[in-house]
Amino acid sequence: MDAAETAPTINELPFDTPLRFPETVNGTTTLSARAATESMLKGKAGRVLGYREGVLGPTIRVSSGTDVSLRFQNNLTEKTNIHWHGLLVPAAMDGHPTQMVAAGQSFTYSFRLNQAATMAWYHPHPHEKTAKQVHQGLAGLFIVETPAEKALGLPSGAYELPLVIQDKRLDATGTPTYAPTMNDVMMGYMGETVTVNGVAGALHNVATRFYRLRIVNGSNGRLYNLALSNDSPFWLIGTDGGLLAAPESVTSLLLAPGERADLLVDFSKATVGTEVFLRSNPFGGASAQGRQGFNILRFVVNRTEAEPFRLPASLGTAPTLSAGAATQTRTFNIGVAMSGMNMGAMKGMHTINGKVYSMNRVDEQVKLGATEIWEFDNSAGDEPHPMHLHGTFFQVLSRTGGRNALTATEKGLKDTVLVMPGERVRILTQFNTPGLFVFHCHNLEHEDDGMMLNYSVS
Ligand code: C2O
Ligand code: CU
Repeated sequence: MDAAETAPTINELPFDTPLRFPETVNGTTTLSARAATESMLKGKAGRVLGYREGVLGPTIRVSSGTDVSLRFQNNLTEKTNIHWHGLLVPAAMDGHPTQMVAAGQSFTYSFRLNQAATMAWYHPHPHEKTAKQVHQGLAGLFIVETPAEKALGLPSGAYELPLVIQDKRLDATGTPTYAPTMNDVMMGYMGETVTVNGVAGALHNVATRFYRLRIVNGSNGRLYNLALSNDSPFWLIGTDGGLLAAPESVTSLLLAPGERADLLVDFSKATVGTEVFLRSNPFGGASAQGRQGFNILRFVVNRTEAEPFRLPASLGTAPTLSAGAATQTRTFNIGVAMSGMNMGAMKGMHTINGKVYSMNRVDEQVKLGATEIWEFDNSAGDEPHPMHLHGTFFQVLSRTGGRNALTATEKGLKDTVLVMPGERVRILTQFNTPGLFVFHCHNLEHEDDGMMLNYSVS
């Protein structure tokens, strides 16, 4: 590998800027993609994109079973759309790259959700422009609630923290810049500044309580090996598709772009004045990144409160598909970084089965209702690829090579699975929504470079 190909070093910041949270809205709001001014870095006011007054979008919170009707107004100077990453919606509402909203135009996304409680997210999905628009600030959270989840009494209100983690490359004015070089396309566009909800060097005061941290890795290409600076264990309670069957105690958790982690952190025994960072610990196996450990968010325990919460022994339901029900296995080679034909070009260095994405070509035809095994083979590759399927959740069946095991998050339903260099990962899913969907690498530079295919369910 090229020695120049390493992730930019993260700037260590003072962590004294109060963490902010986008406002929470219901499922009948208007989202306007537009330019805005935001201070992501203390003392700077940069130009960003967002679905609100500042960077990012509001957090949408709905109960499963209710009708969602979101009017989307495109106030950008270029076309865009919205993909609901982690929501099961009809194909016509999914934000496929062929479903664009022109500059100045609007479109109403309407659907009725029927799925388990989870935290999804939304972001643009225009052909070859997703990475740029997300890096400039277009992304938001979408929380789905159910009565079953509410009955668990998980930390809520001030004790539930939705967190979007993104690294940004900021210019001197604090504006995210997007100008990928060949190296950036190869490893993903990584920045020197880590933001949480659009705030770099963020501080959040907490009470002596349990906190629910609902995290999405909304970065273009960076993985985070999440841990607490005091090495305390924390609980993983949910993943992309919702709650795990039971809490899993972990001390670190690798989270790739597109993946979500629902965590409980216990500050109840801490003394006032205690400082704990959410951080990323160094990790191996990802070639261009993982060498540096860095802080992400600083918590300071600033008050004592009685903690009524007791960790439930069981949470959601375990995935139920059985591999024996699969009628077909499809294998996808994702481990060839450069095909001879595309070598040296700025497009098509990343492929799936040697193919570069074409909007109007159907690559895989799936029978409605079929249960299938899909295998992502990165055994010859040297970059991590978080593979994401639209239109369905899946179970992770096996991982060989590399880490050789499933992770804690993979005990639940997933929509994005990390396939590290050397690994082959098999997933199992049932295709229950008809229509045209994409699946792709969620390293957004890889996606825009063509590492995406269409599949059609009918
Ligand atoms: Cu979050 Cu097709 O993406
Ligand atoms: Cu990739």
